[in-house]
Amino acid sequence: MGTMSEMKILYYPHEILTTPAKDVGEVDDEIRKLLDDIAETMYLNKGIGLAGNQVGLLKKLVCIEIPDNEEQGIKGTGLLQMVNPKILEAGDEIEFQEGCLSFPGLYIDVKRASEVTLEYLDRDGKLHRIHSDGLLAVVIQHEIDHIKGIVFVDHLVPKAKKRALKEYEQTKHKMGNN
Ligand code: CO
Repeated sequence: MGTMSEMKILYYPHEILTTPAKDVGEVDDEIRKLLDDIAETMYLNKGIGLAGNQVGLLKKLVCIEIPDNEEQGIKGTGLLQMVNPKILEAGDEIEFQEGCLSFPGLYIDVKRASEVTLEYLDRDGKLHRIHSDGLLAVVIQHEIDHIKGIVFVDHLVPKAKKRALKEYEQTKHKMGNN
């Protein structure tokens, strides 16, 4: 990886967060640089996933890295940098407490598929098809939602969404992120 720079994370309700991103054509040096900057921004903000939309890019780019966690028996993923990721199949259901770097301070339970099969291009433009479950499947769905312009509160029923957004606004004021 070359020089990396931190990007500014957009907070909800920034309109780019609710706008679908576009497919990336060629995976070139410019795209690789963006992928590295997204990864750097994710590390610096202690996230386990970050999508293009969250740093103001309407390009289908996603970085994920789940670190090792021996206590919870989680085996780390290493850095995954995905271009044009797409879910092909999803099955079963899991409920998981999620956070999001674009919603500082908000944690909500979200129901998602517990297993997914997806396709993406890596940083060299090589096509991969992988199957994942558990935490990685959850993070993949959360990040792929971002590039579709969907945010995690959109999975809540209207009443719960309203309540979550109210809580988020209050937390945001306390944290001085307004
Ligand atoms: Co997020």
